[in-house]
Amino acid sequence: MKIKILKDYNELSYTVADIVQEQIERKPNSRIILPTGSTPIGVYKELVERKLDWSQVKTFNLDEYVMNSYPEHSYLNFMIENLFDHTNLLSKNCYFPDTWLHETPYGYDVDLCLLGIGGNGHIAFNEPGSSFDSLTRMVELSEETVKDNSRFFPSIDDVPTQAVTMGLKPIMSSKRIIIMANGKHKKDILDKAMNGEVTEDVPASILQRHENVEVFYCD
Ligand code: F6R
Repeated sequence: MKIKILKDYNELSYTVADIVQEQIERKPNSRIILPTGSTPIGVYKELVERKLDWSQVKTFNLDEYVMNSYPEHSYLNFMIENLFDHTNLLSKNCYFPDTWLHETPYGYDVDLCLLGIGGNGHIAFNEPGSSFDSLTRMVELSEETVKDNSRFFPSIDDVPTQAVTMGLKPIMSSKRIIIMANGKHKKDILDKAMNGEVTEDVPASILQRHENVEVFYCD
């Protein structure tokens, strides 16, 4: 895995936006996996400003909460607010895992996959212990993840404890993977994922087995 250290969040955001732009311009009907969370917000902001032609692009989000009493905090809503509503993406081309759970579980022929990384090494909501062969499925969120996600909800008791997540196998079937991490608190886990043992205890470590992964980090 190649790591690129950027000087700040701004640079991380436009560097990753450059990759997405280049992908869409080279192949207008690209298939792209997208994350939510704090890290990609700057990338989406940057992409919106660039006014790209998304009309043929298909997007696949990594995860969505289940039993969420706060639909305004759903990942679909996050994407609508941060990207979808400000581009010419067609809603029929924006896929969420809870709607394709019963369809072909992997082999989406994805050109580009953007990922964040959780403090416990999760990618999407594949928590520690997830099988490297995992497919798209419903999962229980770990205590740490619920705690991390509580910043978006009125209180920790309001955070959904279940989600539907894309599995590690479909993520690994992407042609190119970009992993983004912003902040010193992500440094140790990133190092473990990139250089430590490849183990299901650190789900992101599976990326060491992919031949086309780039890591973008700023602290
Ligand atoms: C979100 C997702 C998660 C996040 C991860 C990092 O769709 O799949 O794996 O990428 O939890 O979140 P942030 O960016 O908020 O630190």
